Amino acid sequence: MSPAEYPHRTGGWLRYVSRYTATQGLPEGHPMKIGIIGAGNIGGNLTRRLTALGHEVSVANSRGPATLTELAEETGAHPVAATEAARGAEVVVVTVPLKAVPDLPSGLFDGAAEGFVVIDTNNYYPRQRDGRIAEIEDGLPESRWTERHLGHPVIKAFNGTYAQDILDRHRPAGDPERIALPVAGDDERGKRIVRELIDELGFDTVDAGGLDESWRQQPDSPVYGLREGTEGVTKALAAASPERPETFRA
Ligand SMILES: NC(=O)c1ccc[n+]([C@@H]2O[C@H](COP(=O)([O-])OP(=O)(O)OC[C@H]3O[C@@H](n4cnc5c(N)ncnc54)[C@H](OP(=O)(O)O)[C@@H]3O)[C@@H](O)[C@H]2O)c1
Repeated sequence: MSPAEYPHRTGGWLRYVSRYTATQGLPEGHPMKIGIIGAGNIGGNLTRRLTALGHEVSVANSRGPATLTELAEETGAHPVAATEAARGAEVVVVTVPLKAVPDLPSGLFDGAAEGFVVIDTNNYYPRQRDGRIAEIEDGLPESRWTERHLGHPVIKAFNGTYAQDILDRHRPAGDPERIALPVAGDDERGKRIVRELIDELGFDTVDAGGLDESWRQQPDSPVYGLREGTEGVTKALAAASPERPETFRA
């Protein structure tokens, strides 16, 4: 791999080495193996951008790989069954309707790389889509609920990002129009890896704390759908209320 082949990663190998040393995370700059479970608005656009950045992406939906040939031909991603998506993956993205999380097959993460990180993009839309989920109505943060079903820690990211923005609003670091995304999670190493990946995708990030704080970025919060930089996102997170809005209750 040469920087010419991956112009988004210019800066030389020294940068990769120093980033690796600084974070003790995965070495940034190597093409990662990424599994994406869900190939809709978010999963499809993450597949497009992550393959464009040179990562090796396996993508799955509920209907099987034969229904993903168009996306695969467009992007070079591998269309696979949901149980195959995480094989060898260093990062796995779960991006399905929240109500589908308990239906995901067991052994979903079998064969994932050691230390793999799971990104949860999901939101609870009780009235329009997901139906009533008692634990969430009783105050459990949405991602904590998802994490319990998945049986693996999650990093909450992209949940308040318009899917189209993943394609249209990425900007190089330092660009005054670069927007920031909140990232929440308990696993600090995992959060670092996800923040580096989002940086590579063309967005700044703000550390939104642990998963118990992740209600700050749930639907209808001030940061949800916000298109501002780190300062605006930090303020919006601070202004959030733990009270679940009426329109997001069932
Ligand atoms: N749309 C947005 O702009 C946006 C923004 C931020 C966050 N989100 C959140 O991110 C999640 C995904 O949203 P989306 O808009 O991308 O959804 P979507 O367009 O409806 O796509 C959902 C995907 O999940 C797949 N899926 C459903 N059940 C599955 C199962 N049991 N096993 C494997 N795959 C399964 C679907 O496959 P089939 O088509 O084969 O059924 C489909 O590919 C949601 O929780 C949403 O609230 C969405």
